Amino acid sequence: MISLAEAAVTVLSSADPAAKCRLTRAFAADWAAGLLAAEGGPPPPPRPARPPHPALLPPNRMPKRSTGGPAGRGALLHALAHIELNAVDLAWDIVCRFPAEAMPRAFLDDWVQVALDEAEHFDLLAGLLAGLGLAYGDLPAHDGLWQAAENTADDLMARLAVVPLTLEARGCDTTPATIAKLERNGDHTTPPALELIYRDEIRHVAAGVRWFRHLAAKRGLDPAATYHRLLAERFRGRPKPPFNHAARAEAGMPRDWYEAEA
Ligand SMILES: [Fe+2]
Ligand SMILES: [Fe+2]
Repeated sequence: MISLAEAAVTVLSSADPAAKCRLTRAFAADWAAGLLAAEGGPPPPPRPARPPHPALLPPNRMPKRSTGGPAGRGALLHALAHIELNAVDLAWDIVCRFPAEAMPRAFLDDWVQVALDEAEHFDLLAGLLAGLGLAYGDLPAHDGLWQAAENTADDLMARLAVVPLTLEARGCDTTPATIAKLERNGDHTTPPALELIYRDEIRHVAAGVRWFRHLAAKRGLDPAATYHRLLAERFRGRPKPPFNHAARAEAGMPRDWYEAEA
């Protein structure tokens, strides 16, 4: 029987996005069926394997995105697909990077489910791209996302603070406005996909909040103060309004975690 961490490293070491998503589905089913050991296995690679395309550019060298029409829609879907592919790798990385924390099985369950959701999100967006005659890799993408993983590779609380509690929560802040704009532009294909992704992302933030609180209690730390400290140490900037208070509340995140102190 291989371990869940070995499964995670297999996904992280697979460059082809379709293979990454296929393996994610297979390993998530194996995990649910009790076919993977919870313990043991190698650490993750420093960077996940990726396909030769898209070219990864520094964020400041990304071409300006047009906002309307099919070109704008293609660029938006490609950018979102890139985020979701990173999210697949980020979820598997969390599963296998922090064995010393000895997290309960429910933690592994949550992150295997996140990986599965992210693979579904990628496939959904890849399908919409195909409808426009595009494929993931046809446009450049930026390389800023894995930076967040590298900046938090040594501490699970820092990883949770930056990835689910800040970056994924930001996605929940902005997605309803993106959906509304697409609908105003007469796009009725993309919004249902973004709506589904949005509902899942609130659950991902909720998992982040749950396990951040678990670790704070274990370490005898105040969660709000620790979130503020970790963001100051590990992240450029603070959460920016406008906030989606309803989504954040649904995820269990108190306002004093993310609103600037007076
Ligand atoms: Fe996602
Ligand atoms: Fe997510």
